[in-house]
Amino acid sequence: MEAFIRGLPKAELHLHLEGTLEPALALRLARKHRIELPHSTIAELQHSYQFTDLQSFLDIYLAASKVLRDEDDFHALTSAYLRRAHSQGIVHVEVFFDPQSHTERDIAFVTVLGGIRRALLQGEREFGISHRLILCFLRHLSAAEAMRTLEQALPHKAMIAAVGLDSTESGHPPAKFADVFERARGEGLLAVAHAGEEGPASYVRDALDLLKVQRIDHGVRCEEDPQLVDRLLRERIPLTMCPLSNVRLKVFPRVADHNIRRLLQRGLCVTINSDDPAYFGGYLNENYLAVQQQLGATPDELVQLARNSFEASFLPTPQKSRWLRAIDDYVRRTPVQ
Ligand code: HPA
Ligand code: ZN
Repeated sequence: MEAFIRGLPKAELHLHLEGTLEPALALRLARKHRIELPHSTIAELQHSYQFTDLQSFLDIYLAASKVLRDEDDFHALTSAYLRRAHSQGIVHVEVFFDPQSHTERDIAFVTVLGGIRRALLQGEREFGISHRLILCFLRHLSAAEAMRTLEQALPHKAMIAAVGLDSTESGHPPAKFADVFERARGEGLLAVAHAGEEGPASYVRDALDLLKVQRIDHGVRCEEDPQLVDRLLRERIPLTMCPLSNVRLKVFPRVADHNIRRLLQRGLCVTINSDDPAYFGGYLNENYLAVQQQLGATPDELVQLARNSFEASFLPTPQKSRWLRAIDDYVRRTPVQ
């Protein structure tokens, strides 16, 4: 099954580049820049990754991001992720970055973007991995700060596919960013938003109605509003779900309790993603495998989840069709144990 999942062509649509910062790279960059981290070994860092909720994770995640300082650091971070993605059979990525966690430390926006972009182009050349970049606003910061960040990004908008919304959800509803998203959409950018991870189902509805997002990141709490689930089904709005993340952040006690399989069986366009794999104990394939082993997903359901990942992507229709055919070919010639 592991080999079947590895060989299955897949897209990853919910991945925070800062969340791919493995302890070894964090320690190397801390030494390079003479920055003190709270722990000095890989084992100690890993051991500290025990979270009680979203905020306890964000505190550690945002603090660790401080070791990223120059263009080479952002390049190294992104390159390492793409190498891993390639080894897992990922052929297309739509990745988030959090410019504000760097610009607020006086790292230039172009330093962050330049390093990431160089690695994405290399990943395309070396591994054939296509990509889209999604600029996330930190929702615990003000709307005015988000607007300033958007202004910094607009001269480079050809390199950015969409805007997104991450960080602390509770108390920071979609309405707070309605103007920023309107401006971004007016400039031709697409939109996504984290909603319904720790926030209520109404945040999912507001992300759709007020921010006019193309898809919802997480969205697990949509089930608290049956009419919303009907709408997600009817309008085929994708949810980018992250099972291992949700268990680590105590959204569900166990993968066996996750609602991704139930929503898939309802006919929703749900997808599997890894969110912050350096912190949550697995990359994309480990998430697929957990859904198979702990939630009992069948091979047909795993294939449907992979199909959904392309359908939900920002790829143009001909490329989506090409990958869906590639999945059909793969399934036809690959026996499942
Ligand atoms: N939720 C909100 N903010 C985040 C996440 C998440 O899962 N990962 C990184 N920033
Ligand atoms: Zn996320």
